[in-house]
Amino acid sequence: MRAMVYRGPYKVRVEEKDIPKIEHPNDAIVRVSRGAICGSDLHLYHGMMPDTRVGMTFGHEFVGTVHDVGSSVQNLAVGDRVMVPFNVYCGSCYFCARGLYSNCHNVNPNATAVGGIYGYSHTCGGYDGGQAEFVRVPFADVGPSKIPDWMDEEDAVLLTDACPTGYFGAQLGDIVEGDTVVVFGAGPVGLFAAKSAWLMGAGRVIVIDHLEYRLEKARSFAHAETFNFTDYKDIVVQLKKETDYLGADVVIDAVGAEADGNFLQHVTASKLKLQGGSPIALNWAIDSVRKGGTVSVVGAYGPIFSAVKFGDAMNKGLTMRMNQCPVKRQWPRLFEHIRNGYLKPSDIVTHRIPLEHIAEGYHIFSAKLDNIIKPLVVAGQS
Ligand SMILES: NC(=O)c1ccc[n+]([C@@H]2O[C@H](COP(=O)([O-])OP(=O)(O)OC[C@H]3O[C@@H](n4cnc5c(N)ncnc54)[C@H](O)[C@@H]3O)[C@@H](O)[C@H]2O)c1
Ligand SMILES: [Zn+2]
Ligand SMILES: [Zn+2]
Repeated sequence: MRAMVYRGPYKVRVEEKDIPKIEHPNDAIVRVSRGAICGSDLHLYHGMMPDTRVGMTFGHEFVGTVHDVGSSVQNLAVGDRVMVPFNVYCGSCYFCARGLYSNCHNVNPNATAVGGIYGYSHTCGGYDGGQAEFVRVPFADVGPSKIPDWMDEEDAVLLTDACPTGYFGAQLGDIVEGDTVVVFGAGPVGLFAAKSAWLMGAGRVIVIDHLEYRLEKARSFAHAETFNFTDYKDIVVQLKKETDYLGADVVIDAVGAEADGNFLQHVTASKLKLQGGSPIALNWAIDSVRKGGTVSVVGAYGPIFSAVKFGDAMNKGLTMRMNQCPVKRQWPRLFEHIRNGYLKPSDIVTHRIPLEHIAEGYHIFSAKLDNIIKPLVVAGQS
């Protein structure tokens, strides 16, 4: 089969690989019809994630058709159209039993903090991902769901990560009716977080980025007010002005480890890798939320130390909530919102890239060229 393969930082290509086989009776093999490149894949592409091995296939957002099933699989049959959450999880450990699917204790021999993620380095379990023609899906009775007949395949692929993660970001903010919610980052996750904030009762939603075309999308797709942080000497002061000098009730970090906006932080984190990520957006979140407010972090950071303003967070009495998204937990409500017409996840798709051309897709997405917001990876064309 053809599969995207990592060759080192900023180097990926498409190679021939063996079609994955059933390794456990509860595995399924899925033939991928639509995949995507996530902002998280850029951290891998940039060499930010420890133990990203040459030869690995990325891709944790994918939908497709069941090609083969192991002998114990009961919920899926060959030919079913399925959507697969980015989390690999057992469904029965202490953490899965409490809905913490992204913290499953049984799927990652290399780390205890994080569970399993498809195509996301050996730090996250070493599973090959779905930027390929076929992918092995462990615990096939647990994670995947059949795509409902009424659901568009492109909406389904966005439900495997970006959309539920944005929704989860808003959920972690514990939004109360009328709250002012600030979202840092107008990438796919931030756009969905902003849209979800309204669905949870926000009274005001403000999105911050420095890419004008993404801020335009935040206005048209998520009906948010927007600020370009490069237009202000200090974006935190501007946000204070906007909120009666109190600060926002809830701030969501949908940027993560590779934030721009402070040269020193960017160099020590992204370039020299002395930090587990540049905490610029996170520190802006801590500074711009009101005392007693909530900071929700869905932007991803590496495992090692980052220079976070923890003392300020403590002295302000903040609630800080964060996690990798437990995707399937969000599906019932998101299915409803899509069916009712409140949400059309595929509205943020800007690019459809054939698997054979995925290296170009990574380059465009990484360099934020061509007004890219969300690239899908499509099968069967070249
Ligand atoms: N928690 C989870 O489960 C989960 C799931 C998916 C993605 N993520 C993470 O969420 C983050 C966003 O993902 P995405 O797909 O939207 O990525 P993306 O790279 O497309 O978007 C990030 C956006 O942040 C903007 N940005 C950079 N510095 C900023 C700053 N200081 N302030 C405000 N905006 C800034 C960028 O211009 C970009 O538009 C990434 O860190 C990704 O790894 C987490
Ligand atoms: Zn992702
Ligand atoms: Zn588990």
